[in-house]
Amino acid sequence: MNYNKKTVKDVDVKGKKVLLRCDFNVPMAKDGSGVITDDKRIRAALPTIQYLLEQGAAVIACSHMGKPVATFDSYKKKQLEKGKDEASITEEKWKKSLAELRMEPVAKRLSELLGKDVILADDVVGPDAQAKAAALKPGEIMLLQNTRFEKGETKGDPELAKKMADLAGADGVYVSDAFGAVHRAHASTAVVANYLPAVSGFLIQKELDFIGGALANPKRPLVAILGGSKVSSKIGVINNLLEIADTIIIGGGMAYTFSAAQGGKVGDSLLEEDWKDYANDMVKKAADKGVKLLLPVDTVIADKFAADADSKVVKSGEIPDGWQGLDIGPETVKLYCDAVADAGTVIWNGPMGVFEFEKFAAGTKAVAEALSKTSAITIIGGGDSAAAVQQLGYADKMTHISTGGGASLEFMEGKELPGVACLLDK
Ligand code: 3PG
Repeated sequence: MNYNKKTVKDVDVKGKKVLLRCDFNVPMAKDGSGVITDDKRIRAALPTIQYLLEQGAAVIACSHMGKPVATFDSYKKKQLEKGKDEASITEEKWKKSLAELRMEPVAKRLSELLGKDVILADDVVGPDAQAKAAALKPGEIMLLQNTRFEKGETKGDPELAKKMADLAGADGVYVSDAFGAVHRAHASTAVVANYLPAVSGFLIQKELDFIGGALANPKRPLVAILGGSKVSSKIGVINNLLEIADTIIIGGGMAYTFSAAQGGKVGDSLLEEDWKDYANDMVKKAADKGVKLLLPVDTVIADKFAADADSKVVKSGEIPDGWQGLDIGPETVKLYCDAVADAGTVIWNGPMGVFEFEKFAAGTKAVAEALSKTSAITIIGGGDSAAAVQQLGYADKMTHISTGGGASLEFMEGKELPGVACLLDK
C-alpha cells in the first residue's frame, strides 16, 4: 500500500468548505451523564482543525460514536439475539440508546479545547446539516450528528457519501484525520472520497509516518512484542511481522497456546486448542527465516482469575491443574527487557499479562519501563497496549502511541486500509 498521501498542506482550502472526518469515538461515563472520560482523540484532531481554520476554511467535522442501531427493527432483532425478552424491548429504550450516542458532549469539549463556538447539527445530511453547512463561514466550524445514525454509513452507501460531500459544495475538500476508523470502508471514511478531492490530516500523516515507517523501513534490529489473550486474533500480525522483524517476543494469554503446542502443561490457562498446530508452524517458520522468536520461560500463575488470587511463579509448561497463568515470570521479564535494550525499533501490541490486576501487572510494567529507557523508536499499538502504557505512567516516554485500536492492528497485519487507500497519492 502506498502511504505517501497528499495532506492538508498540499491543497488550497482558503475560502472553501472542508468535510473533515475525525475519530471522535471517545469513551463516555457509563451512567449516561454525557461525561467524556478520555478526550485524547479530540485533542489529537486539534492540530488539523486549527490549521484548517487558520487557513480560512469553513470546517464541517463529522465522526461516528459507538455502534448505534439505526432502525427500531434492527435494534429489536439485536436485543432478541442477545436473549432479551420481547416485551422488554421498547422504542423508548432504542431512542435512549441513540440519545446516549449523540455528539453534544463532543461538540462541547471541542469548543472548550478550541476556545471557539462549535455549531452542532441535529442530523447528518438532513435539512439542519444542509442549512448550517450552507451558512458556514470561513474560520467557523460545525459538527454533524453521529454519522452512524444514517443506516447507509457502515454499508458504505454511495448516495449517503454523495450527500455528505455535497455539504462541502462544488469546490469542497475532504480531509480525513480519523486514523482509528481507516480500516472501515464506510460512507464517511472512504466512499466520500469518490466525490471530493481527498487528503489526510496531520494525525493520519503522523500514524502513517511512524507505523508505516517502522514496517517499511525500520531502524534495525526491529523487535516486535506481541501480547494479548488470543493467538487467533494476532495471526495476521504474527504472519506479517515474521517477514519484517528481527525478533518477535510473545507474551500474554496467547503464550499458553504456544506452550501447550510444545507439549507443556498449562493447567487452566487460556488455551486455543485449535491453534496449537498454527503456533508450532510459527515457531518453525521463525527458525527457517532466522527470526528470533522468544517465548516465556517462566510464568506467574493464579488459583483464580481475580485481583486477590493466590499467586506463585513456575517454569513455563509446568502449570498445575487448578492454576492459570496471568503474567510472564521474572526470568522472562529479564529475557524480554534484554532483547529490547539494544533494539533500533520496537513495535508493541498487546499486554504481557492481566495488567488490570496489580498482582499480575509486573510483566507489562517491566516491558513498558524497558521501552521507556531504550533509545529505540518505540511504537505502541492502540487499544490495550496504549491503555497499559497510559495506566502505568509511561505514555510520555514512547515515540508514538497509536490512536487506532483495530486500525493499528490491521496496519501491522499489512492490510490495505480503505480510509488511507482512498486519499490522493503525492
Ligand atoms: C475505534 O474505537 O477503534 C474506532 O473508533 C473504530 O470504531 P469501530 O470499531 O466501532 O468501527
